[in-house]
Amino acid sequence: MVRKGPRSTAQKGHPFGRRPTGGWADVLWDWSKSGTRHAARNRLLRKLPGVDTATAYRFGLVERPHYAYGVRRATESAARLGHRGVTVIEFGVAGGNGLLTLAEHARHYAAATGVAVRVVGFDSGTGMPPAKDPRDLPYLFGPGFYPMDHDRLRARLGETELVIGDLAETLPHYLDTRADLLRAHPVGFVCLDMDHYTSTTTALDLFRSPAHEYLLPRVTCYLDDLPGTTEHIGEAAAIADFNAAHPDRPIGRVLGLRAFTPFDPPWADQIHVHHRLAHPGYSSLEVGATGDRLPLDP
Ligand SMILES: C[S@@+](CC[C@H](N)C(=O)[O-])C[C@H]1O[C@@H](n2cnc3c(N)ncnc32)[C@H](O)[C@@H]1O
Repeated sequence: MVRKGPRSTAQKGHPFGRRPTGGWADVLWDWSKSGTRHAARNRLLRKLPGVDTATAYRFGLVERPHYAYGVRRATESAARLGHRGVTVIEFGVAGGNGLLTLAEHARHYAAATGVAVRVVGFDSGTGMPPAKDPRDLPYLFGPGFYPMDHDRLRARLGETELVIGDLAETLPHYLDTRADLLRAHPVGFVCLDMDHYTSTTTALDLFRSPAHEYLLPRVTCYLDDLPGTTEHIGEAAAIADFNAAHPDRPIGRVLGLRAFTPFDPPWADQIHVHHRLAHPGYSSLEVGATGDRLPLDP
């Protein structure tokens, strides 16, 4: 039942009834939240003298460092396993800021590792589809949210591939028609950002495919839509269902990642890895991935 009467500040979109005042309290409010604080601090640190591009990447000071992390893991793993190319994917593109940033990180790590990186984005092009299931969070995402300015984005894409249409149609078609490209550039990083349970379930068809050669044995995943949900709805529910149905290829959170990532960023909690335990390359040693000596101290 909708309560009648004047709308509260929360109903006007101000969380916890807070009204922006335009003063220091607003700045403090932003810095009090770890995600905003990390992004703002990164921008400041990047401006320090001596912080060059390589340093910014090393310490995760770049825009969307979680995307940079995924591309780094994909390219390093590909190089160690003897692949000359890798594919990175954003499921859910909206305006395109994420896809363009992903492409920028791809150029950096292609140059750093010598591994060619293909960048692919999937989106309807017309914003969110209507919800098909209550677990799609229909109380948060309305049909048509996050539309794309297609011409503006296309003009800036360069070699990045943008696949437009309902994912339920475009993904199977893509897997059929790009088989050779995927074999030469197996998928090594996936950003899942389609908000809905059903769309995420469709995106995970990439991992249901029996074709191991389209994927690295371990695929790094960034799950954008976990915060604020529970494991029973949205992206988390799609992952839980996938894991229940495919025990030989689980998607699991990387444990303890924050502790060994510079500045223990909050995004580290959203990094998962899809382990394809039956992949023919799963057990090949990634030479250099860990040290191989733990000598006794003098
Ligand atoms: C939150 S937005 C993506 C934001 C983007 N990753 C970013 O960081 O700027 C979610 C996008 O998923 C797309 N989407 C959701 N379900 C889809 C489906 N079944 N097929 C194609 N696109 C879908 C919508 O068009 C929407 O643009």
